[in-house]
Amino acid sequence: MALDCWAMVTFLFVFQVTAADLPVPTPAQVRYQSTDFVALIHFNMGTFAHNGDPCCDKSNWDVVAPYATGKTSDPATFDPEKLNTTQWMESVAALGANIAVLTAKHGCGFALWPTNSTFPDGSPYGYNVGMPGAAVQKDVLRSFVDSAKNAGIGYGFYYSIMKNFYLCHNFFGNNSCKQEVLPRQRNVTNDDYLHVARQQVTELWTQYGNLTRIWVDSGLGGLGNLMGELQPQAAGTPQNPINWCGTESGHPSRDVGPEDVWNMGPGYFGDPNASTWTPKFCDPQLFREHIWFWEPNLEVRNLSEMIPIYHDIVGRGMVMELAFSIDRDGLVEESHALVYRQLGNWVRNCYGSPLAVTSGTGIVFTLTLQAGQIFDRIQIQENIVLGQRVRNYTLEQSLENGWKPLVTASAIGRKRIHVLESVIEVLGETHLRLRIEHATQSPQISQFAVFSPCKKAAELQDLKVFI
Ligand SMILES: *[C@@H]1O[C@H](CO)[C@@H](O)[C@H](O)[C@H]1NC(C)=O
Ligand SMILES: *[C@@H]1O[C@H](CO)[C@@H](O)[C@H](O)[C@H]1NC(C)=O
Ligand SMILES: *[C@@H]1O[C@H](CO)[C@@H](O)[C@H](O)[C@H]1NC(C)=O
Ligand SMILES: *[C@@H]1O[C@H](CO)[C@@H](O)[C@H](O)[C@H]1NC(C)=O
Ligand SMILES: *[C@@H]1O[C@H](CO)[C@@H](O)[C@H](O)[C@H]1NC(C)=O
Ligand SMILES: *[C@@H]1O[C@H](CO)[C@@H](O)[C@H](O)[C@H]1NC(C)=O
Ligand SMILES: *[C@@H]1O[C@H](CO)[C@@H](O)[C@H](O)[C@H]1NC(C)=O
Ligand SMILES: *[C@@H]1O[C@H](CO)[C@@H](O)[C@H](O)[C@H]1NC(C)=O
Repeated sequence: MALDCWAMVTFLFVFQVTAADLPVPTPAQVRYQSTDFVALIHFNMGTFAHNGDPCCDKSNWDVVAPYATGKTSDPATFDPEKLNTTQWMESVAALGANIAVLTAKHGCGFALWPTNSTFPDGSPYGYNVGMPGAAVQKDVLRSFVDSAKNAGIGYGFYYSIMKNFYLCHNFFGNNSCKQEVLPRQRNVTNDDYLHVARQQVTELWTQYGNLTRIWVDSGLGGLGNLMGELQPQAAGTPQNPINWCGTESGHPSRDVGPEDVWNMGPGYFGDPNASTWTPKFCDPQLFREHIWFWEPNLEVRNLSEMIPIYHDIVGRGMVMELAFSIDRDGLVEESHALVYRQLGNWVRNCYGSPLAVTSGTGIVFTLTLQAGQIFDRIQIQENIVLGQRVRNYTLEQSLENGWKPLVTASAIGRKRIHVLESVIEVLGETHLRLRIEHATQSPQISQFAVFSPCKKAAELQDLKVFI
């Protein structure tokens, strides 16, 4: 009988570091890692022209490009007639995202709030909602924050400090108007540029309450300390770092590498020996194309395409910052809303009711399955508040003559999902066990659970509403 072996097994088990060496997350990092999904909402001047970084360029700045609804230099071009941030939150919540981030300012330089920032000569910023001539007179960020709060969703802003087409600064913070300054561009010096950027981020980091996540692209411009000072509880700051997974494709194990990903340490995979806690995130698009800002006639990925992306990112311990591309009406398009809903429903349906589940402290955890049950996936989570303690482990199934290994792996962290190559049918009562072989401290497992195969994507495709 298989379980007889169980008592006889002795484990070689060594705790390798002292408690002081083991990094643990800050409260901001714990909050960030409390959700599978972040909604990374792209909505700005580019929505009315084309995707890009910057979306504004010579082909659309001072001319009405065939693909655009107006000149991108003109604040009247940003004109979402049905703008409704509450409608966005329906999709954010349906997806199961508990944090939403909005592009307050992207590469064009257009500000989605009525900024009071001025240049040293006293002239106003002059490229934002709320200014004379702008189609939108309200504060889009305020609406977004109010809708997020009402939905119980944490919020934050994307602000690219170093790049701004309007102010002649490219992605790397260099002057981009060496040859030519287009009408309505301002060819400002670096000092004047940072003078404005400092005022703008101060507004973002003081006027909208506590941000859960701050997204700064392309360099901090010396403003990192200010961020930490004004928003100490936000993730994505120098004090509460998080690391990018290395690709926007949605397939990090294919495009970056299949290695285990650690919640600690720098780089794409982290490092089990690091002394810093660094959650990892991956930011795929919903569009099939590598497109962030809404463009007409593009197709979104379907649920069958999103499921492997979920497993490759969330199933390997990372947070998925999934793109939301708000359309020119100012809404989440229905075809997009459908996929967010389907993916959220699929996760809840698939991982919501385990066949067997356990948790606790220890090095061996056992689950019991009954004859007739079928399973093909296992989810494991550590209580990361206490650090990532497991260094490697084996998942095994009891058979007549002992334990048969199903999976051997290293990193668990916030979440690890193993989808087995084939479905296993339980013929008589059987046991599954998680045997932790190496850990730095006593392992704290918040979930060890086994699941039956999930409904095929196709079966869910037409199911618009169910939980
Ligand atoms: C905004 O969207 C919400 C949710 O879909 C809806 O209930 C509300 O009526 C909309 N508001 C307007 C002004 O259309
Ligand atoms: C801009 O100044 C006005 C008037 O003082 C103030 O009410 C508003 O909150 C300021 N806006 C920002 C974004 O700080
Ligand atoms: C652009 O800026 C980077 C970083 O500040 C600098 O290293 C580089 O030399 C600059 N490139 C040009 C062409 O000015
Ligand atoms: C724009 O400003 C930069 C840096 O101050 C300067 O080198 C460049 O000549 C200016 N461009 C034009 C067209 O005057
Ligand atoms: C905002 O965060 C600070 C810590 O940075 C905390 O003391 C404060 O209570 C938070 N405020 C709200 C409204 O959550
Ligand atoms: C971590 O440290 C252990 C013990 O010193 C060592 O065996 C292991 O190779 C290290 N791992 C990495 C990824 O550096
Ligand atoms: C298990 O983890 C330990 C400690 O990090 C490491 O030295 C060892 O090589 C790992 N073993 C396997 C099979 O990965
Ligand atoms: C999802 O898209 C893929 C790729 O285009 C396609 O092969 C598949 O049939 C689609 N699945 C469903 C259920 O529509």
